[in-house]
Amino acid sequence: MSNFFDIAFSPAALRQQTEAGSFEAYERMRARMGDQVDLGPREREFIAGRDSFYLATVTADGWPYVQHRGGPKGFVKLLSASSFAIADMSGNRQYVTLGNSATSPRASLFFMDYPGRRRLKLFAEIEIADRDFAVREQLVEPAAMDRVERSMIFHLRGFDWNCPKYITPRWTREELAEMA
Ligand SMILES: Cc1cc2nc3c(=O)[nH]c(=O)nc-3n(C[C@H](O)[C@H](O)[C@H](O)COP(=O)(O)O)c2cc1C
Repeated sequence: MSNFFDIAFSPAALRQQTEAGSFEAYERMRARMGDQVDLGPREREFIAGRDSFYLATVTADGWPYVQHRGGPKGFVKLLSASSFAIADMSGNRQYVTLGNSATSPRASLFFMDYPGRRRLKLFAEIEIADRDFAVREQLVEPAAMDRVERSMIFHLRGFDWNCPKYITPRWTREELAEMA
């Protein structure tokens, strides 16, 4: 079992923290985090309200590769306290993320709330499931089912909320219309 810091803090990062004087504060935070096997109510509500996220995987040569996944608000379906899923739609047919996940299931995800200036970072392991899973779990509206190639399940390994500083608020057309 692990938490976000256990995964993210390499020996080199820990040495830098020691030099910078931030190591002990993070050690206390790490102890408070415990084993992050579950998303709390705050994380679940946040993920359920998003219309996109950034998804990083690792190539066979160790290069990080960042992509974007998007859909209607709520397109990420929570399956349990520690897993969520999306329907993976046909797109540019490069299958880089899919290929990476076959070599290593390790992924890093970023969920953004620009108007609320909130950012949630997660580590997860990817499990690829078939189209039928998307049908069973109702991952998309029936009308969009034609474009679904597979399902992507994310198994949580740790999460961390980022500082809101430097997140520039941005609004979607729909959000602007609601405010008008
Ligand atoms: C015709 C078309 C439709 C797409 N539809 C979606 C979509 O519904 N959701 C999404 O997140 N990305 C969509 N994309 C972007 C692709 O998913 C994305 O570029 C590609 O499939 C990512 O593959 P990769 O993660 O292997 O790089 C679309 C791209 C194209 C060309």
